[in-house]
Amino acid sequence: MTEQESQLVEAARRARKQAYAPYSNYQVGAALRTATGRIFTGCNIENAAYGATVCAERVAVFKAISEGEKDLVALAVAASGDDMASPCGTCRQVLYEFAPDLILYLTGSTGSIESTTLKQLLPRAFGPAHLMEDST
Ligand code: THU
Repeated sequence: MTEQESQLVEAARRARKQAYAPYSNYQVGAALRTATGRIFTGCNIENAAYGATVCAERVAVFKAISEGEKDLVALAVAASGDDMASPCGTCRQVLYEFAPDLILYLTGSTGSIESTTLKQLLPRAFGPAHLMEDST
């Protein structure tokens, strides 16, 4: 792992500490690096109306997009305990919209780090290109 990659993982592990997860007690942190070198972090934020919960990954993506940073390069996700993080289907789809070539580093609060790609996590994804095809 490069210094830059481990920095991203550390940022995700730190962000995890801000998780608001009183219902699941499953804390997740995310850190997203953009092409300009900025890092946007996120944590899961639960709600008493469970469906209003937002995952750590989407918080990080929405922070980046809302600040004008659409070129997403790499995302680190840190889950609770020794569990290896695994982004949910909705987050994979949201990430694909902006960054089909995204690189991911998945880990727990400590321990080993798995490197993967969004295309591996979401094969045959539906994305913007499908809607731009000439359907005549
Ligand atoms: N969660 C995330 O934040 N990211 C994931 O990758 C998986 C799930 C959150 C949502 C909810 O607050 C809790 O984990 C349990 O589903």
